[in-house]
Amino acid sequence: SRTAAVIPAAGRGVRLGPGAPKALRVLGGTPMLIHAVRAMAASRAVGLVVVVAPPDGAPEVKNLIDAHVLPDHTDYLVVPGGATRQESVGLGLDALPEDVSVVLVHDAARPLVPVDTVDAVIEAVRAGAPAVVPALPLADTVKEVEPGPPGDPEPVLSTPVRSRLRAVQTPQGFDRDTLVRAHAEVAVDGEGATDDAGMVERLGSPVVVVPGHAEAFKVTRPLDLVLAEAVLARRRA
Ligand code: CTP
Ligand code: MG
Repeated sequence: SRTAAVIPAAGRGVRLGPGAPKALRVLGGTPMLIHAVRAMAASRAVGLVVVVAPPDGAPEVKNLIDAHVLPDHTDYLVVPGGATRQESVGLGLDALPEDVSVVLVHDAARPLVPVDTVDAVIEAVRAGAPAVVPALPLADTVKEVEPGPPGDPEPVLSTPVRSRLRAVQTPQGFDRDTLVRAHAEVAVDGEGATDDAGMVERLGSPVVVVPGHAEAFKVTRPLDLVLAEAVLARRRA
């Protein structure tokens, strides 16, 4: 039985500003998506990568991956994505072959996650946890507010105890049947779930956290591109 990584890469990248779809933006001369695919394939345990492309971009993404070298132990598939991240992940899950029993879900927007983090997540799932999330303690204090019109001061409702909070990353790892059930049974409105483990929590199944890594940060805003280029330059030095 195999471990597969589903990579949702169908987002536009609105917060990054105008330009190509985020996963196709170039970092250190190579598209972000290729970095993300290689980060998953770097784990000897990952036998299959399922890339979820922008809805009309699957052929282009397939050509892009074909043009790059991947380790021999990793096959890949490309499927078209949906309107929300949750839909895109669901479409990736639909494409999994029968022999896959452990599934990672990894944002294309986290191109630099180290292989040790990937392996630690897989290891925890194989050791029996149905859902595993890499995460880090927060640097900032967090406040819950009552959101108001943009620009207006927002009343503070509470300040959660920071030492109990974790900022979650990907790859998140799952027993395949648990994640498929979560996607089938958990309804989420609006923009969908931002986190696959959150859907498993709603099923009532246990979710555990393992240590994440600073280099697993998500490329979301323009400043994140500066950080990603700096990390790549340091790795090459
Ligand atoms: N994603 C996806 N399908 C969508 C929306 C998002 O596959 N309909 C993917 C993105 O490609 C990304 C990951 O989910 O790899 C995390 O989402 P996020 O960082 O929010 O990326 P975008 O949605 O592209 O960015 P933004 O929200 O700024 O538009
Ligand atoms: Mg988004």
